[in-house]
Amino acid sequence: MAVEVGRTSSMSRNRFMVAVFGGVSTVIGIFYVGVLVRYLYPKSSSTPPLKVPLSEQGVTDPSTLATLPFKNGVTAAFNYPTVPDKSVVVGVFVEKKDAAGTLTEDNVRVVEQTCTHLGCPVAWVDTDNRFECPCHGSQFNRDGSVYRGPAADPLYEHDFELKSGSITILGRK
Ligand code: FES
Repeated sequence: MAVEVGRTSSMSRNRFMVAVFGGVSTVIGIFYVGVLVRYLYPKSSSTPPLKVPLSEQGVTDPSTLATLPFKNGVTAAFNYPTVPDKSVVVGVFVEKKDAAGTLTEDNVRVVEQTCTHLGCPVAWVDTDNRFECPCHGSQFNRDGSVYRGPAADPLYEHDFELKSGSITILGRK
C-alpha cells in the first residue's frame, strides 16, 4: 500500500512539472511571436500624424519651437516620431519644389533625412541645391533622386496634408 501512495505522489509531481513547463513555454512562445510580428510590421497603419506650424518664413521645429527658415526652398530637418511610442524617429525636411513659388500642396514635398545608402542623415546644402550625405558622399537632387552614389535609390518622401498655417506629416509614401 505504501508503494501505491508513493507512486501516485510521484505521478502528480510529474504532471505538475509538465503543466508548469508547458505553461512557461507557451508564454515565452507567445512573447516571441509578438516581438516577431511587431518587427515585421513596425509601422503598418500606426504612423502617427505630426502637425507642424508652417508659413512662408519656414517651419516651426516641434521639439524646440524654433523657426527653421527656408533656404533655397528647403527647411532644416526636424524630428518626426514614426510610431506611437516615439521609439523610432526620423528627420524630415519641408521643401518647396519651386523655391520661389508659394506654399501650395502641389509645390510642397516632405523629404526624409535618411540616406538610402546606409542610413546616415543627409544635410540640405542650399548653395549646391542638393542633399548631401557626410558618410560616403552620396548626393541627391532636390527632387530626391540620386545625383551621385554610392546610394542607388532616391530619398524617401512622406505623405502630408497642407492646411492654412500648418502641415501634417502622415508617414512614408
Ligand atoms: S550612408 Fe550616405 S553615402 Fe553612405
